[in-house]
Amino acid sequence: NPNINLLARAMNKLDLIVVTDLFLTDTARMADIILPATSMFEYYDLITGYGHSYIQLQQKLIEPPDECKHESEMYRLLGKKFGFNLNYLPENDLSTIEKIIINSNLNTNVDELKEKIERCLEAARLAPSASNSQPWRFIVADNPKLKEEVAKETFSQLISFNRFSLQAPVLIVLISERPGLLNKVAESIKDKQFSLIDIGIAAEHFCLQAAEEGLGTCMLGWFNEKGVKKLLNIPPSKRVELVITVGYPESTIIRPKKRKP
Ligand SMILES: Cc1cc2nc3c(=O)[nH]c(=O)nc-3n(C[C@H](O)[C@H](O)[C@H](O)COP(=O)(O)O)c2cc1C
Repeated sequence: NPNINLLARAMNKLDLIVVTDLFLTDTARMADIILPATSMFEYYDLITGYGHSYIQLQQKLIEPPDECKHESEMYRLLGKKFGFNLNYLPENDLSTIEKIIINSNLNTNVDELKEKIERCLEAARLAPSASNSQPWRFIVADNPKLKEEVAKETFSQLISFNRFSLQAPVLIVLISERPGLLNKVAESIKDKQFSLIDIGIAAEHFCLQAAEEGLGTCMLGWFNEKGVKKLLNIPPSKRVELVITVGYPESTIIRPKKRKP
C-alpha cells in the first residue's frame, strides 16, 4: 500500500526518469525516456518455478516490434555508449540456452557416462606402480547430493577457484594406501615417496582415458581433506591425495598451453 502521492512527488523531483516497460503504466507516463521492452513471445528464455524441479523452454515466436528490446540488449547497448563492455551479458537466444544446458549437465546420459568412467577406472587400475603395490583407491562420487557436498569441500568463500567443481557430474576421490613393508623399506633407503609417484601415474592414466572418451577432467589438489574424509567415511589414517572433476567439456578446442620451453 504505497503512498502514491508521496511517491509521485518524490519522482517529480528527479532530473531524469528512464522507464523500461511493456505498457504505458502510470510510472511510464512520468518518464522522460521510455525504453520499450519485449514481451515473453519475443525472446528465448529458460523458465524455472517454485515447488518443482522442471525447467521450461520459453520460445520466441515473433521478432520484437519496432524498437522494443530485451533488457539485456538495452544494457549491452547502453554499456557501449558509456564505454563499458557489457558483452558478457548473455543474449536471450538459442545458443545461450544450449550453453546453459550443456554446462548444467542436463543432457548428460548417465548410463553412457558410467560406462566411460568404468573404462577410465580400468585404465587407472592398469597403471604401473613401485613393486606393483598399487597403493590407490578410487572413490566415484556420482550421487548428486554427495557429489555436491564433496565439491563444496574444494572451495570456500575466500578461496573459490575450485567452485567450478560444482558443475562436474562426477567427482573422483583418490586415496593413497599406506605402503607395505617392502615399499616402506625401499622408500626409506632411497628417500623417495613412491606411493605419490604411483598415484600421480594412476591419476593421469584415468585422465588420459577420460580424454579418449571425450570427457574433460581437472585434478584438484586444493580441498579440505578432513571434510572429504568425513563425507566418505574414510579412516583418518588414510590420505586423500586428489579430487578429479569429470564432465563433458564445453568446447573441444584445446586452448594454448602455458609451458616452459
Ligand atoms: C597435483 C595437481 C593439483 C592440482 N590442483 C588444482 C586445483 O586445486 N584447482 C585447479 O583448478 N587446478 C588444479 N590443477 C590443475 C593445474 O592448475 C593445471 O594443470 C595447470 O595450471 C596447467 O593447466 P593446463 O593443464 O590446463 O594447461 C592441479 C594439477 C595437478 C597435477
